[in-house]
Amino acid sequence: MSIAGSRKVTEKRKRVDNSQWSAVSLRDVLYLRKVRNGQGVRNEAGDLPKIGLIEHLLWYARNVNWIHQHSFIVYKDSRRAGYIRLAPITSGAAEISIALEPWAQGQGLGSHSLRWAVKNYAQISGLERITARVDRENSRSIATFAGAGFVRLEEGSPGETLLFTKFLDGQPG
Ligand SMILES: CC(C)(COP(=O)(O)OP(=O)(O)OC[C@H]1O[C@@H](n2cnc3c(N)ncnc32)[C@H](O)[C@@H]1OP(=O)(O)O)[C@@H](O)C(=O)NCCC(=O)NCCS
Repeated sequence: MSIAGSRKVTEKRKRVDNSQWSAVSLRDVLYLRKVRNGQGVRNEAGDLPKIGLIEHLLWYARNVNWIHQHSFIVYKDSRRAGYIRLAPITSGAAEISIALEPWAQGQGLGSHSLRWAVKNYAQISGLERITARVDRENSRSIATFAGAGFVRLEEGSPGETLLFTKFLDGQPG
């Protein structure tokens, strides 16, 4: 690698230093909604409507065990920066989603967190693939998933989200 190339890698690594992930707990429930309902996140994910408080709490109550096991808060410099979570869809497959607060975006944290999560999720017994739905206008998200080894499965028609999949090889770590 050239000196310029290795400097770029070092700078990237520095920016994601001091990042951590911890399993979602009760104290994070309202935070998940706050991040998901952020204007920028909703726009980039395809003009999603806001999630109401009751709807959010019901979702939490119905899925509490799965959420606590498979959803994580992303931390940067000990500050909550967003979340990454997995929702079960069929046996063997689950859907991943990630959202960072605006201040934490564009510094490599999304890619770093996605790679970490895939490694972590590879240890879930019976999980064969992880899918992601990405708005076709969301070029940063498309780059993030592609960079973490997700493959675009369907083109879909204009207006539809893109489907990305990553097959797990059953080898944790
Ligand atoms: C999508 C998201 C998770 C990406 O995380 P991030 O930390 O902001 O992105 P990163 O800095 O890690 O960059 C990821 C890749 O996108 C590329 N990128 C950055 N800005 C870009 C842009 N405007 N257009 C295209 N690619 C871009 C980076 O170069 C990087 O690629 P590389 O790893 O090959 O260098 C984050 O921006 C976010 O939460 N957005 C709002 C919610 C959302 O869209 N979620 C995804 C829906 S599932």
